[in-house]
Amino acid sequence: MSRANKVVLAYSGGVDTSVCIPYLMQEWGVKEVITLAADLGQGDELGPIKQKALDSGASISLVEDGRDAFVTEYAFPAIKANALYENRYPLSTALARPLIAKMLVEAAEKYGADAVAHGCTGKGNDQVRFDVGIAALNPDLKILAPAREWGMSREETIAYGEKFGIPSPVKKSSPYSIDKNLLGRSIEAGPLEDPMNEPLEEVFAMTKAIAETPDEPEYVEIGFEKGIPVSINGENLAPVELISQLNDLTGKHGYGRLDMIENRVVGIKSREIYEAPALLVLIHAHRDLESLTLTADVTQYKRGLEDTYGHLIYRGLWYSPLKEALDAFIDKTQEQVTGTVRVKLFKGNATIVGRKSDNSIYAPDLATYGADDKFDHKAAEGFIYIWGLPTRVWSQKMRG
Ligand code: ARG
Repeated sequence: MSRANKVVLAYSGGVDTSVCIPYLMQEWGVKEVITLAADLGQGDELGPIKQKALDSGASISLVEDGRDAFVTEYAFPAIKANALYENRYPLSTALARPLIAKMLVEAAEKYGADAVAHGCTGKGNDQVRFDVGIAALNPDLKILAPAREWGMSREETIAYGEKFGIPSPVKKSSPYSIDKNLLGRSIEAGPLEDPMNEPLEEVFAMTKAIAETPDEPEYVEIGFEKGIPVSINGENLAPVELISQLNDLTGKHGYGRLDMIENRVVGIKSREIYEAPALLVLIHAHRDLESLTLTADVTQYKRGLEDTYGHLIYRGLWYSPLKEALDAFIDKTQEQVTGTVRVKLFKGNATIVGRKSDNSIYAPDLATYGADDKFDHKAAEGFIYIWGLPTRVWSQKMRG
């Protein structure tokens, strides 16, 4: 029985997604597989990947540059929201999934496919993000996930692929499972599965070990317009260029690493190492500029929503009414968030050492301890009397 006629498969060039091509056709009766490799700045050579899909049996091998959309439509909203999952992970992998889902759906519609497919297993978050994202964008498309069902071990997968001319990986495969894109790298498995094992230096690629960082601090000024990063050291840069320059600048100083135990959507705890230098420094700087330009109540109210926003990205609800409603609120708050943040990079730290904005609501004449202080100190007394009144009444009652 055929599960689908024509399928668009999310393709990375790795063994698993390559094996999906013959598997879909041989085992699930799919007539035609079109592969789609999304360039999200992962730094892989896409020419060989394109050919590899054709060699593995794809009828059409698409390679699409999604980098600009990735930064402007996915990373920038997340930066405006200061989105961090469980207070730490800046969602560098999670943000790529709704974009890939969108690219798959668009290709399926363009080529008249009745299904889309991906190579995710049943244990991870990415299957949730793909499946829910695809369903939100086109609920009529079937979703096929061979690796969720085939039950083959790594060796069996390689052997299956060899039967259909898919070469087994040449170099001894790394013990790690790595996902990478312009926003960062996520590394898990191998020795990292023991939460007590310190990650070996070999897992990192975007950030330097402290021992190899410069012995002099470096200052960088990040300019924001309405919550969106637009310049580095006064020079306006295109979004993709800005992220890559900032990755290099901050990664060189060893900033941007995380080591955490996180709670996956499917209920499993996993140990993940991340490096996301540009994204982390941008959220750090953006939040600081907000503290200069937003009122206390807006800032505090937004904090709660930021947590919700990070959660919904992690849990695959990028295309959802909640996300749209939160964006409306966040965009309103960002109208004031224009200015410059000065960051000092040194030995694994990115310290905010200055900020300025034409929309600053920091009032020097109220804040100063100097002679030109305009604050009415006497007014504080009446304020405190009323502010503390409930506490005073409560205390009197308790003491009888
Ligand atoms: N745990 C992260 C997330 O769910 C990253 C997962 C990516 N995969 C990997 N092989 N490390 O967003």
